[in-house]
Amino acid sequence: MTTLRALGRDDLPAVAAVHRAAFPRMVVSRIGAEAVRRYYESLLSGSYETAGLGAFQGGQLAGFCFVGVRHWSEGAFVRAHAAFIVWRLLASPRLWVDPVVLRRLELGLRLLFTRPPQTRETEAGNCETEPPSYGIQLIAVEPGWQGAGVGRRLMEAGEAHARQRGSARIELSVEPSNVRAVGFYERLGWRKLAAGGEWNGLMEKSLR
Ligand SMILES: CC(C)(COP(=O)(O)OP(=O)(O)OC[C@H]1O[C@@H](n2cnc3c(N)ncnc32)[C@H](O)[C@@H]1OP(=O)(O)O)[C@@H](O)C(=O)NCCC(=O)NCCS
Repeated sequence: MTTLRALGRDDLPAVAAVHRAAFPRMVVSRIGAEAVRRYYESLLSGSYETAGLGAFQGGQLAGFCFVGVRHWSEGAFVRAHAAFIVWRLLASPRLWVDPVVLRRLELGLRLLFTRPPQTRETEAGNCETEPPSYGIQLIAVEPGWQGAGVGRRLMEAGEAHARQRGSARIELSVEPSNVRAVGFYERLGWRKLAAGGEWNGLMEKSLR
């Protein structure tokens, strides 16, 4: 049976383990478990009104969803942990020759040295326009539990949280090539938001 509860800082090592299993190619996953843990810690401790929701199976974290203000979290994370990230990269020379890592490093440097602009690029490579919206920041289900209804439970809980906060709609960003996640969101009633041109991964759902 799946049980849901709010996540706290003590849960973040388990969150990092699920994140790395669900997003093995993400740069922060490859930097290491401590980098991922710090990423979620920065979400919880920043001014993002973030709530972490965990789905547990037999006491083990099977998946999580973070809901909050979807704004500039990568920038805050990079600024707060620049020294740690550089140290981890120096300790892992194999990461330096990876083109995906190099692109993320370029974005990281931009986030480090620029103030929040009118639009910003997320780790997924999408652009978001101010004002900041409230919505799903991240969702991941441990691969062994995917396809078993855990993601639906987490999204419903995230939407209920946003509704309680008074939001009439919520947003999320997805990498457009992540067709599995896009299909999952559409199945749950989300729709693609296109501002003309190519769709950049922004989706929304009305909570009315
Ligand atoms: C995307 C993800 C969160 C979905 O979670 P999940 O637990 O596997 O999904 P569920 O089993 O709860 O599926 C919920 C519903 O979506 C449907 N669904 C799932 N994937 C689908 C797809 N690709 N296309 C259409 N429907 C889909 C399911 O059939 C189910 O429908 P039903 O409840 O009406 O029977 C999970 O696969 C995951 O963690 N993926 C890796 C990380 C990731 O990509 N996160 C999103 C980043 S933006």
